[in-house]
Amino acid sequence: MLDKMKIWKSTKEPDTLDERIEECKSYKIPDHIAIIMDGNGRWANKRALPRIAGHHEGMKTVRPITRLANRLGVKALTLYAFSTENWIRPKMEVDYLMKLPEEFLGTFLPELVEENVQVQMMGERSQIPKHTLKAVDKAIDATKNNTGLVLNFALNYGSRSEILQAAKSFAVKVQNGECSIDELDDEQFSSLMMTHHLGDPDLMIRTSGEIRLSNFMLWQLAYAEFWFTDVLWPDFSEEHLIEAIESYQKRSRRFGGLKSEESQ
Ligand code: IPE
Ligand code: IPE
Ligand code: MG
Repeated sequence: MLDKMKIWKSTKEPDTLDERIEECKSYKIPDHIAIIMDGNGRWANKRALPRIAGHHEGMKTVRPITRLANRLGVKALTLYAFSTENWIRPKMEVDYLMKLPEEFLGTFLPELVEENVQVQMMGERSQIPKHTLKAVDKAIDATKNNTGLVLNFALNYGSRSEILQAAKSFAVKVQNGECSIDELDDEQFSSLMMTHHLGDPDLMIRTSGEIRLSNFMLWQLAYAEFWFTDVLWPDFSEEHLIEAIESYQKRSRRFGGLKSEESQ
């Protein structure tokens, strides 16, 4: 399937944020955006602050980005909040990161409910502290009937472990005689992933200048458009999200085929 590409108009470009948002809405909005929220530590370092101050500032960025994604009609926003590898950081930092969902949701849950956002989480729950899960589960429950943007937190998420889990669960089905090996295809395997109900991301954004995936959605990002920026996550603004989407709208997604005009 080919998206209608954004063609630059010769008329004056919109300049206020509201104008840019409205302009952006007249082109194809990605259904699912995934963000690797990176650079909190460096943001703090630059200001001679402790790393956790960067995480606190980074948490505050989630609010305007979620609101804007919802306003634009994005269906799902997956935010990489903590990876399965992040446990190797100093205990004090990990403990702080595990307190952030409580703080974020403690402040913004009423707003998320009000704005029709549905909170979800993906990741390995068993290692996550009970107090963290309690806050997340409360938000999931309070927003479960909302029909707007799905705000999906990747918490203790690792893509390789997710893929291994999916492979194992398919093997068990075969072992139990519920299906045969030949039935395993893209669709079947995708249905075993944590994102089965969300669809694959159309656009993947990573902040802080790192050009890597760091074990994030390796299966699901097969055909996503990537957008990298040097901006550190606490400095990531609504303008940056619009810039990323504008870039997405100018790209030609071919999925292995040809551009629409070439295939005629
Ligand atoms: C991203 O910021 C947040 C998490 C990984 C939890 P970092 O903490 O990785 O910040 P940098 O990369 O050290 O600047
Ligand atoms: C990826 O960032 C994980 C999150 C943003 C939660 P990292 O900072 O952990 O990634 P690396 O170590 O630079 O690859
Ligand atoms: Mg980092």
